[in-house]
Amino acid sequence: MTTVTDSEVLRDALGLLRDREEVAERLLASSAKHSFDPDKELDWDAPLEDGKWFWPPELLSLYDTPMWRGMSEDQRIELSRHEAASLGSLGIWFEIILMQLLVRHVYDKPVTSNHVRYALTEIADECRHSMMFARVIQKCGSPTYPVPRLYHNLARVLKTVSTTPGSFAATLLGEEILDWMQRLTFPDDRVQTLMRGVTRIHVVEEARHVRYAREELRRQMVTAPAWERELTRVSCGEAARVFSTCFVNPKVYENVGLDRREAVAQVKASGHRREVMQNGARRLTDFLDDIGVLRGVGRRLWQSSGLLA
Ligand SMILES: [Fe+2]
Ligand SMILES: [Fe+2]
Repeated sequence: MTTVTDSEVLRDALGLLRDREEVAERLLASSAKHSFDPDKELDWDAPLEDGKWFWPPELLSLYDTPMWRGMSEDQRIELSRHEAASLGSLGIWFEIILMQLLVRHVYDKPVTSNHVRYALTEIADECRHSMMFARVIQKCGSPTYPVPRLYHNLARVLKTVSTTPGSFAATLLGEEILDWMQRLTFPDDRVQTLMRGVTRIHVVEEARHVRYAREELRRQMVTAPAWERELTRVSCGEAARVFSTCFVNPKVYENVGLDRREAVAQVKASGHRREVMQNGARRLTDFLDDIGVLRGVGRRLWQSSGLLA
């Protein structure tokens, strides 16, 4: 039997803090080299291109359903314009929550540390991203798609009271699935140039955010007390359920002239859609499984979200 002495615990804790500073230092160096000002980087005056998609068709919720097969090409492209606006609106909602979580995270930490400096850098990135998403929604002439009031208010509670590991688990949920879709969007020449530019900028800057959140969550799942780890599993599972429910606002179907209820039912029954969402979540669910977040009730909530098989 091995016994852990106080000095070993202290050494491990110091090691984790050193690791935290080193990760943040690398992320700061990368931010200094590859950060973008979307207002200057993208050509906002260029007209939208006829016949081009606003999101890759295979990543649209209705793709390959009976309803999809009955739609004209123009109507499908119109759906892509609305779904892209719905995802952009979701992105802004999520980033505003994240900014508050990060501000809370650093409130008690040493202000000159790399870890705090990087958090502030990330908040600045998210400010630019949210403005970029709002600008692209406007440029495409699309409406905004807020999440249902209930979830808007549930998130108000989460962003105010969630503890550190829960905050970083929610961060990854919001970042990794959309990131997976954006990695397929920016190289796709069927897609509008402006959308490709927006997703390229987002992918480059989000890669650092994912790294920061993963490293912190991994440390937290080692150091947090048992009750907090369990709370993280449950709150993260519930967040996955809310996230998948809010992912595409059903109003998009109405706005392209489709029957909303029928469209929602067909998306729910679509094997292609389930596969897309699970593929999008896989990198994240593998990681969460690895660090012990996907257990018990939390795991069952993830399964009921449809993001985990
Ligand atoms: Fe972002
Ligand atoms: Fe981010």
